[in-house]
Amino acid sequence: MPRKTTLTKARMTELIGEARAVRSNSYSPYSNYKVGAALLASSGKIYAGANFENAAYGAGTCAERVALGAALSAGERKFIAICVCGADDSISPCGICRQALCEFGDITVISVGADGDAARVTTLGTLLPDSFGPGNLT
Ligand code: THU
Repeated sequence: MPRKTTLTKARMTELIGEARAVRSNSYSPYSNYKVGAALLASSGKIYAGANFENAAYGAGTCAERVALGAALSAGERKFIAICVCGADDSISPCGICRQALCEFGDITVISVGADGDAARVTTLGTLLPDSFGPGNLT
């Protein structure tokens, strides 16, 4: 029986490292606001994504949903935590990303800056209370 994935201190450090690393691949020439995200799945695997922008502005996507798309495409359906990295730790997932993530578990959300030790930790349920989910459709 595989071990249950939990957010240990070591996993959190790993998640922060991956979010910071992928942020350097952000394609954001219009906002110059680079974001990296790393999503820890219940399988124990980590999926990373960076934001990308486009000359047709609306065609861009946030780092969190790039990471989520990679994870879902790999067959993952349940997540434990996401780390979002911006220039500083004031970053927080936008409303669309909160909604996109919320049907896959009340995950831990960690916000960090490009360097330093500061990390803000909260949960998706705190960021998006009373959310609309699969249960509303039945
Ligand atoms: N962005 C993210 O990738 N994640 C967030 O949590 C906030 C915003 C991106 C979208 C856009 O490419 C740039 O940051 C500026 O809004």
